Amino acid sequence: IDSQKSLIYLAALVVLVSECVALDRSSFPLGFQLGFSTSAYQVEGAAHEDGRGPSIWDTFCKIPGKIFGGANGDVAVDVYHRYKEDIQILKSLGTDVYRFSIAWPRIFPGGSRRHAEVNSKGVHYYNSLINELIDNGIEPIATIFHWDVPQVLEDEYGGFRSKKILDDYAEFAEFCFKAFGDRVKKWMTVNEPSIFATHGYLNGINAPGRCSPPNGNCTEGDSLREPYIVSHNLLLAHTHAVKIYRTKYQEKQKGSIGISLHSDWYMPYSTSQMDVDATQRVLDNSLGLYIDPIVFGDYPLSVKQLVRDRLPVFTEQESKDIKGSFDFIGMNYYVTAYVMDNSTAVPLPPSQEEPDNPEIPDTFAITTTVKDGVEIGPSEGGVEYWRSYPRGVKLLLNYIKTKYNNPPVYITEIGYVTLDNGQPLENILQDTDRIQFIKDSLKFTLQAMREGADIRGFLLWSYIDNFEWDSGYPFRLGLYYVNYTNNDLRRIPKASANWFREAMNPSWKSN
Ligand code: NOJ
Repeated sequence: IDSQKSLIYLAALVVLVSECVALDRSSFPLGFQLGFSTSAYQVEGAAHEDGRGPSIWDTFCKIPGKIFGGANGDVAVDVYHRYKEDIQILKSLGTDVYRFSIAWPRIFPGGSRRHAEVNSKGVHYYNSLINELIDNGIEPIATIFHWDVPQVLEDEYGGFRSKKILDDYAEFAEFCFKAFGDRVKKWMTVNEPSIFATHGYLNGINAPGRCSPPNGNCTEGDSLREPYIVSHNLLLAHTHAVKIYRTKYQEKQKGSIGISLHSDWYMPYSTSQMDVDATQRVLDNSLGLYIDPIVFGDYPLSVKQLVRDRLPVFTEQESKDIKGSFDFIGMNYYVTAYVMDNSTAVPLPPSQEEPDNPEIPDTFAITTTVKDGVEIGPSEGGVEYWRSYPRGVKLLLNYIKTKYNNPPVYITEIGYVTLDNGQPLENILQDTDRIQFIKDSLKFTLQAMREGADIRGFLLWSYIDNFEWDSGYPFRLGLYYVNYTNNDLRRIPKASANWFREAMNPSWKSN
């Protein structure tokens, strides 16, 4: 018994020591991939160059009042012209993988071959980007759809509100496999279907700006059905792409394919059973709405019960096709939210915002959303209070491991936002909170891995500041600061970039 006890003490000591040792590249197993993510409209710029067609984002940004500061992605951070310089930054940071998206309207300016031919200059750009990455020892990961629906398709049949999009998306996806699949070995079909559906069709804050009354302040939209119709069509588009890849390209190209899902972690606001149940409903309705179909072939029961006839139904064939339609799952995580049963919820005065849950430490509250007891689309089922909470990534990863048969997971986005409201540059560059967030998120990811979760990579959003959709340019998430004054667009390392380089690229010193 004594020797058993000593073994337990020893094991506890090993865990304790390993927790205290500084985290760096060597903390992760060989083959674990570190990197950064971006998307085309947020970084490329060159919106009117080399034959790119308009997307719903070009249109949406023109509507007064939609984007903070009236901004748009016409120039963004000009990666289209500066990708070589940026790839040197990525290399210096010790990046293994770089996830970018292929702008649909840059390849098919008319959305599909029905409207216009393939834009060879667009193809040339992605070929050059991919080749430059590979020449610098960085693996390219491509997202096929990151929210930039060609405007022509929105005008023609309502974009993702219509099943007609499935053939056009399939044509675009197949083109990407054919043109780039000899070098791109990891594909993401769709980025964050939940955010595209809720922000584009529920609260109307993102393109195409439709919303479902009583949410949001726009009038166009179809009650609370559209977000689910769009979600359903995104899932079917994903399934089509995976089917095409698996039947025609995968064997030859030897790559893998997945989807990038978004989820906050959710915790009950109080320990009451009602809040605990509401938390599960919210989780099912945000993450489960997408991951259940691809793992199990259907929507979660709690979503069916809550959403009833507003939820589209998979045919038997669709259900068969979607089940197992992934080689890995991409997870985008940013914050943790508290959930309160919305039948009892009333808007809380700020002084009472602290939740009555002993497990939740007192951290920084990012934003508060109160939903007044109304059933509201994805994330319906509860009231949420959002917090930056790195431990949430471990809880989310463990939940996926347990509930969804431990699929291979890449964290395809994780990051920390700071608001640039005019403080001196030297303060912005001293982003110690971001360093702490990254360290903690890496630590909790590692803990999840040690507890058995199959995590293959960790990609930060992002190496540079960029166009943060409706929030415009003051929302900075980069390790490099971008100087927007007079379109200078110089990249300046923040403290987080220097920390990351030291900790994660040990070979840098000798370079
Ligand atoms: C998720 C989205 O995929 C990306 O486009 C966005 O900029 C980041 N989150 C940060 O909000």
